[in-house]
Amino acid sequence: MKRTRSRWHEGWDAGGSRPSRRSGARASFLLGAAALALTVSGCTSSIDSFAPVTDRGHDNLWLLNLSFILITAVMLLVFGVLGYSIVRFRNRTPSEREGNSRLEIFWTATPALLLVVLFILSVRTMNTITTGHDAGDVVTIKAVGNQWWWAFDYPDLGVTTANELHVPTDRPVRIELESTDVIHSFWVPQLGWKLDMIPGRTNVMNFTVDTPGTFDGACAEFCGAQHAWMRLKVIASPGDQFAAWSSQQAAAASTPSDLVTKDGESTFLRESCAACHTVRGTAAQGKVGPDLTHFGSRETIGAGVLQNTPANLEAWLRDPQAYKPGIVMPGFDRLSDEQIRALVEYLEGLT
Ligand code: CUA
Repeated sequence: MKRTRSRWHEGWDAGGSRPSRRSGARASFLLGAAALALTVSGCTSSIDSFAPVTDRGHDNLWLLNLSFILITAVMLLVFGVLGYSIVRFRNRTPSEREGNSRLEIFWTATPALLLVVLFILSVRTMNTITTGHDAGDVVTIKAVGNQWWWAFDYPDLGVTTANELHVPTDRPVRIELESTDVIHSFWVPQLGWKLDMIPGRTNVMNFTVDTPGTFDGACAEFCGAQHAWMRLKVIASPGDQFAAWSSQQAAAASTPSDLVTKDGESTFLRESCAACHTVRGTAAQGKVGPDLTHFGSRETIGAGVLQNTPANLEAWLRDPQAYKPGIVMPGFDRLSDEQIRALVEYLEGLT
């Protein structure tokens, strides 16, 4: 069966055969060169720490840029003076060297002063980033890290989804980060910074997105075998589109309308699917895996590992361990082709 791997694979896969040592070195060199070229050209990838789309992300980048400029200025000054001295005083003998207290005070006080300035600005930026929103029209989202996927709960909107985080633009967002198992780290570079998800603790991220778009993210704390396949997407859209999305997602699952999807639903409820997954509006109320009430509206399967297409879903249902070894979900290869296809049709119909 042909399966379309997700877009993630295109940029991140190492390729099929094991590279030799020499080609490995060449690959590292090429990667380094490519990274440099991307940095210099200001790439437009959706993973880009240098292109924040939030108010606080801009503050963070401003501090980074300022630090970079100051550090570069100091470096140029030091190397400039060093170079000048080497050339200008190259013929002096050691006995002619003597101290210069004014110079020494200057090169001690200047870096100290710069560090104080950077310290004050860093503390100010940290304060800006950690301060909550003023009370108002805040969208609160509970984000829970699981091995290896993300649950997103919108308690005020009655929405529960997974791996794709929808937020409105130009409206304050508050994300409460938690974990059910080990430490994960919520990292969407364009939001501006990352924050750990720690079991038994709630960390809060506040921001307002100013640019609509889709921004990729990933777990940034090693959390087990499938840490690398704990990806997420943030979809930021204007208020009216976000409202349309949330009211659609808050609704219970659509009732199967034909024989095949009805058959798929009963397979879903009869097999162990319902013990782990919730499909609101049915008897399936499991809490171990992602809420599947609107599964068909998502772009990927397995937190980014496969594109959400019927063929991929069929392969995934038969043997999820082939794509994400170590996850909790068992394979359903024992089902007949007919049953699997009905299950696929049912799940893809949950838009
Ligand atoms: Cu979750 Cu790494």
